[in-house]
Amino acid sequence: MPRGPCSLVRVSATPVAALAVALVSSLSRCSLLEPEDSVVSALSPYFGTKTRYEDANPGLLPDPEAPRRDPELLEETCTPVQLVALIRHGTRYPTTKQIRKLRQLHGLLQARGAKDDRTRAAGRGDLGAALADWPLWYADWMDGQLVEKGRQDMRQLALRLASLFPALFSQENYGRLQLVTSSKHRCVDSGAAFLQGLWQHYHPGLPTPDVADMECGPPRINDKLMRFFDHCEKFLTQVERNATALYHVEAFKTGPEMQNILKKVADILQVPVNNLNAGNVPVMLHLNSEII
Ligand SMILES: *[C@@H]1O[C@H](CO)[C@@H](O)[C@H](O)[C@H]1NC(C)=O
Repeated sequence: MPRGPCSLVRVSATPVAALAVALVSSLSRCSLLEPEDSVVSALSPYFGTKTRYEDANPGLLPDPEAPRRDPELLEETCTPVQLVALIRHGTRYPTTKQIRKLRQLHGLLQARGAKDDRTRAAGRGDLGAALADWPLWYADWMDGQLVEKGRQDMRQLALRLASLFPALFSQENYGRLQLVTSSKHRCVDSGAAFLQGLWQHYHPGLPTPDVADMECGPPRINDKLMRFFDHCEKFLTQVERNATALYHVEAFKTGPEMQNILKKVADILQVPVNNLNAGNVPVMLHLNSEII
């Protein structure tokens, strides 16, 4: 169901908002990629909101801190006085629930036969056999936590925004910066990494302090705003717990398009199609960086 962005950054040069720039970034792809890894596979750019910034925009690879637009171009046409950015958390591990589903799929693949047979099958290009032998190293404690790559995503995003809007992100405005986050640890950590990126912008070369010791303070937690889908009573009763409102979601999950996908996946992995569903197949995207 809906999963929202987790931090809101507001910085303004004047108290009145004459111009608001909204930015929605999405990134929650999960892997333990090294920060310097370039595009991982031919499939990497096609993960929608789970696509890494670098895969959506390979221009970031040579210089991840350079703004993606010419700041002067913007300055000539308008004067930014406020920036509101709605930012999703950085790269993270899968959640415990997703890890459980992965284990179930892994078990299904391992049940296909003896290890020796699988190894031979993997040698013949059998993807299901290769996946069965992949050591599933995700552990429960990882539960959706931000990884180092995710911290770097946020630091670099902060630096790009600061170079794109130099007047807004002036040092004197630093104290005006407001950062709101949900209570999810990956979001709190993303907010902290964003602020640490900005700190580096203002104090290049100096060691970065803890966010609690920064002028603007740590990100404020506000779940009512940032996780409205868990707290808004109207949304919960009228939509989330209302089968009529969710009719099309369910229809899609059980409809012909989804059945077609499940059949294709079952064919490729050589597992019974009735073990696959719209709930467990999508978690396979977490295997992307490893094998596919
Ligand atoms: C459930 O959703 C339907 C369709 O959107 C709507 O007409 C109905 O009022 C909703 N029911 C409740 C209890 O809100």
